[in-house]
Amino acid sequence: MKILIVGLPGSGKTTQIDKVAQKYGLEPVKMGNILREIVSTKSGLGQKIAAIMSSGELVEDELVAKLIKDKVTQIGDKLVMEGFPRTTKQVELFDPEFDKVFYLEVPIEVVKDRMKDRGRADDSDEAIEKRLQVQMEDMEHILGYYKDRLVKINGILPIEEVFKTIEDNLR
Ligand code: AP5
Repeated sequence: MKILIVGLPGSGKTTQIDKVAQKYGLEPVKMGNILREIVSTKSGLGQKIAAIMSSGELVEDELVAKLIKDKVTQIGDKLVMEGFPRTTKQVELFDPEFDKVFYLEVPIEVVKDRMKDRGRADDSDEAIEKRLQVQMEDMEHILGYYKDRLVKINGILPIEEVFKTIEDNLR
């Protein structure tokens, strides 16, 4: 089973992916964490990625598609993913062929407040605005691409209720 959780930054993707991975014995694949691991090596590539992430811009499509393709090849077909694809180009470069896609729908003001409360290194006001702006651009296309396997969830509900809806759709 391959599952994708999609939504704006701060919509709760990371929160839900951990719960899904644990309950269904799936490998969690988080694009942001894969990039943060490269940043932690302090290599030339890591420094370049760090600068992009702290600005709120997206890392190059070709690079993230290659990183995810390698990861999926290594893991196989028992995974739950978030953070990829994020652009139209990324879906074209590599489609992991998900069985189910969950979209966490959360109003923009709510995700902003959540990210400010969370206070991650790339959660400055400027980076939050930029991330939301660039990631809203391709969201409709990605949702359209997966419309035959898409489940929309009201992401402002409490964490356990969001998870219950995911569970109900995986029976
Ligand atoms: P990434 O690390 O993926 O961050 P993001 O997409 O911006 O998503 P977040 O981690 O901010 O939010 P989330 O939806 O996981 O919410 P969370 O569960 O934490 O990406 C970071 C950067 O990496 C990007 O800006 C880009 O530069 C680069 N990048 C990543 N993927 C890329 C790609 N494919 N292509 C190019 N570049 C890429 O929840 C947020 C908060 O809300 C938490 O505090 C949580 O406790 C709380 N919360 C969660 N659910 C609820 C709920 N139901 N009710 C109340 N509070 C809740």
